[in-house]
Amino acid sequence: MNEHLKRAFSPAKLGQLELRNRFIKAATFEGKTPNGIPGELLSDFHKEICQGGVSMTTIAYCATEPDGRIHQDMILMNETTREPLTKMVDELHSTGAMISGQMGHCGHFSKNKDLQRLKRPLGPSRHFNNMGAMVGMPYAGAMGDKDIELFIQSFHDAAAYMKDIGFNAIEIHFGHGYALSQFISPLTNRRSDQYGGSIENRMRVPVMALQAVRKAVGPDFPILGKMGMFDAVRGGLREPEALVVAEILDKEGIDALITSGGTSSYNPMPMFRGDSIAPGIIETAPNLITKTIFKFIAPKMFRDMPYKELYFLDGHKRVRERIKNAQMVYIGGCHTVESIETVMAEGVDFIQLGRVLLKDPAFVNNAKEKLHDYRSGCTHCNFCVTSIDLPGGIYCKLNRQESA
Ligand SMILES: Cc1cc2nc3c(=O)[nH]c(=O)nc-3n(C[C@H](O)[C@H](O)[C@H](O)COP(=O)(O)O)c2cc1C
Repeated sequence: MNEHLKRAFSPAKLGQLELRNRFIKAATFEGKTPNGIPGELLSDFHKEICQGGVSMTTIAYCATEPDGRIHQDMILMNETTREPLTKMVDELHSTGAMISGQMGHCGHFSKNKDLQRLKRPLGPSRHFNNMGAMVGMPYAGAMGDKDIELFIQSFHDAAAYMKDIGFNAIEIHFGHGYALSQFISPLTNRRSDQYGGSIENRMRVPVMALQAVRKAVGPDFPILGKMGMFDAVRGGLREPEALVVAEILDKEGIDALITSGGTSSYNPMPMFRGDSIAPGIIETAPNLITKTIFKFIAPKMFRDMPYKELYFLDGHKRVRERIKNAQMVYIGGCHTVESIETVMAEGVDFIQLGRVLLKDPAFVNNAKEKLHDYRSGCTHCNFCVTSIDLPGGIYCKLNRQESA
């Protein structure tokens, strides 16, 4: 094993947290929490991945408040989930892996009709809610000062709760078109007050969220931030401003930055390059009417984006050049041993793995054992993305076919 691979498989520190190697399971919303309650389904999924060698897994979409959920099957970070969440966290810790939770708030991108605090979803500015349009909720409003205060408080309270439950790290979602990225993006933030206009102003609310989380968890608890390097939609965030986003998060004391791109709301394909998700969307449509509609629109909306290994590496390096303190986490098509070597040779601190762990939960152990002879078998068909809303949640179609 050469020095770069040795480094990848050796213990490392994320902030003050000791990890057994440099591989972290990326947040991939599991769809395995009916009514937002974690149980065996979610726990077993993460347990298999932890046993497969990663040093830390990430529980996806930990909603900061009830109205921050896209739908009701997302886990709430408040007392309602204490017992099952504690049980799961204890079970996962028994594998020797650490646990991070990706804090999410959907802002204006929601199909959750059971709103509790709000009358309709709110983002930085009034906006068409393309996710809600399907369930008769096409409009989202703009947050007022009081809404912003409660929104920030929800990040604080959720973070305090997560630390108390036993999570070892928190990942704040600043990208992909969710609430904080709606503030960052010039397309969705058209405010004329101190929270809109220049990129520095558009970063005020995201920075307030980071500060609230830091206040809740203290200086030694690792906070990662997943940011977008571009929105991949006309009028959206582009790289020159994303570099400023990274600089600001670094200056505000984020422990580690994960560099992604694309938006779930407008153009998700750049996030997980590979085959179009259109065939999967059509196949998994819940009824004949939606299937027929999707047959016409999905292929136009979601085009193939030919897969290539390490598709975010160039952008990641440009972000890193602007960073003074934060550790850097690479994500995006690191699916072979050669790629692990390349990323480590670049001096990157950690690697997040998404689809490759859905195909092979033991990717890390297998790569360590077989080195360059190893192939995961993930074809980037992206069916897993479209299995999110199916009963039982995400799975790899190839694995099901192979075991049938
Ligand atoms: C099924 C699925 C669900 C995902 N859900 C999330 C999510 O909840 N939060 C997030 O930040 N990214 C999500 N992503 C994006 C991944 O975290 C990751 O950025 C992307 O898949 C690229 O990494 P990869 O090439 O290792 O898969 C998801 C990806 C997949 C395939």
